[in-house]
Amino acid sequence: MCGIIGYVGNQDIVPILIEGLKKLEYRGYDSAGIAILNGDDIQIRRVEGKIKGLEDSLRDEKLTGTYGIGHTRWATHGRPSEENAHPHRDCTQSIVVVHNGIIENYLEIKKTLKDEEHKFVTETDTEVIAHLIEKYYNNSLESAVQKAVKELVGNFAISAVSKNEKDTIVTAKVGPPTVIGLGDGENFISSDLNPLLFHTQEIIFLEDGEMAVVKPDSVRFSDFEGNSIEKTAEHISWSPLMVEKQGYKHFMLKEIFEQPQVIRDTISGRISLDTGKVFLEEIGIPESTLKKINRIVIIACGTSYNAGLVGKCMIETLAGVPTDVVYASEYRYEDFILDKHTLAIPVSQSGETADTLAAFKSSIEKSNPSLAICNVQNSSISRVADGVLLTHAGPEIGVAATKTFLAQMAALALLAIHFANIRGKLSPKDNILLMKELQLIPHKIEEILMRAKEIEEIAQLFVSHSHFLYLGRWASFPIALEGALKLKEISYIHAEGYPGGEMKHGPIALIDEKMPTMVIIPKDRVYDKMLSNISEIKTRVGYVLAVAFEDDQEILDKVDKVIPIPVTHPLFSPFLTTVPLQLFAYYIASIRGADVDQPRNLAKSVTVE
Ligand code: M6R
Repeated sequence: MCGIIGYVGNQDIVPILIEGLKKLEYRGYDSAGIAILNGDDIQIRRVEGKIKGLEDSLRDEKLTGTYGIGHTRWATHGRPSEENAHPHRDCTQSIVVVHNGIIENYLEIKKTLKDEEHKFVTETDTEVIAHLIEKYYNNSLESAVQKAVKELVGNFAISAVSKNEKDTIVTAKVGPPTVIGLGDGENFISSDLNPLLFHTQEIIFLEDGEMAVVKPDSVRFSDFEGNSIEKTAEHISWSPLMVEKQGYKHFMLKEIFEQPQVIRDTISGRISLDTGKVFLEEIGIPESTLKKINRIVIIACGTSYNAGLVGKCMIETLAGVPTDVVYASEYRYEDFILDKHTLAIPVSQSGETADTLAAFKSSIEKSNPSLAICNVQNSSISRVADGVLLTHAGPEIGVAATKTFLAQMAALALLAIHFANIRGKLSPKDNILLMKELQLIPHKIEEILMRAKEIEEIAQLFVSHSHFLYLGRWASFPIALEGALKLKEISYIHAEGYPGGEMKHGPIALIDEKMPTMVIIPKDRVYDKMLSNISEIKTRVGYVLAVAFEDDQEILDKVDKVIPIPVTHPLFSPFLTTVPLQLFAYYIASIRGADVDQPRNLAKSVTVE
């Protein structure tokens, strides 16, 4: 939530901050602002709404400077408004701060500061940071920030500048991510890698409890006590092209079309088609430890949770390891019943989701070992885990997760086969057959993508509907959840994902001619049961669309419309059934003129509770 950018150097600073904020906009887009300094004065521009508004407001006004900070906001304390937009200032108007996170004790601090005659002008928690730095400022921004952060309770990534300290940005973090990009005579600060890729691929990740003093020719690291810390840069292989739309109307559409490659990248080098073996040495957890695992707990939120449910099906079916999938936001307040033979698996695209991180941290006090499935290398969750299985999906910019969902399922499929192998649960023949089928999935997704136009035409028929029901069973139930989640988050159409068999226990009351149902019905162990569920809907005059295998003749006269997909192993059907549902949601939202990549009220990585 919220994106921070900082720059110190000799380039034209406004485009760097604005372009950087655009790349971070998926993190929050209620309001935005920048502060630019040249050592004499501070120039601040802030607007309610998106970065585009900020960019427009700067068009006729040339701001120049050599250092500055910018922010795009997802409001927590204080409604979205120009006044509450960051950056925030102190009473002397010489210190400016941007902040990502929540200061839990801000009311307490604010009271004390007010008693000390500090004047507050916003409703935000962030403003207390500016005043605290002012309180402690005595010719050193670094030491004032150090003293200020020690008083803060909560989570924060902050960047601060002072007009009295030319070409200096001080940044500190506890919780939300902060990365420093190293340039030649210039340096950058950002909430994630995306804006930095255009300038440098030499990156340093700030850890919790660390701060940095960033100048054009140096970056100095320390802890909050002032002890210096040596850190080395990592070379990042993501390329700037990955964060461009490359001719697609929306990032979401581009990311849907990237899925075949994402699956190839996630499985490549990790499987042997000859032996059926999965190579997961990279996770760094010895096979002897994995052999002793007798239970798995997958911890996740949103789409990653849905991927976890598919993972459960794969792991239990293939490897026979009992697997629970838990909502991190709930699990963190439960009594963890775990032991040293339980493997905790947080699944997270960003690796920064606050609920997943908190639930995972608490769970590892009791479980052992842990294995994170993340898309972002070096993310907070991956740094806490014993092992990491990276999904090689590349940066995902659309707020609605698509390609990372498929990549997570691919990683979980590898894990399921690996567990099955080490527990001797798969015959060599079945093992190799599964591998071969997994390897064919990207090609089969390409076949579905070639029919995108047909799916767009079907979507056209439903743009005016207000409600949708999605039904699936067994491995298709999570896909019903995911299909419904995609539709509601980008098109704002109310959609419910339900297990087919549960329908008769309540939701069937909703069925009428205005409530269409999308059924996900590959030929699997619950196919006949699903046919019965369809018949229950048809009897009540409901309209039924089905995502079904292309060789399925039986379904044709049972439903109103069929979206055919290539035939695959039932356990891998989620890779294929998901794609038409993503496209269906995308086209409905796009035709309705919705802001597909940045749906209202959402943010890409939810780093607050
Ligand atoms: O980064 P994470 O995978 O941990 O994010 C989890 C959810 O916030 C995320 O999947 C969210 O539900 C997306 N909006 C789904 O499209």
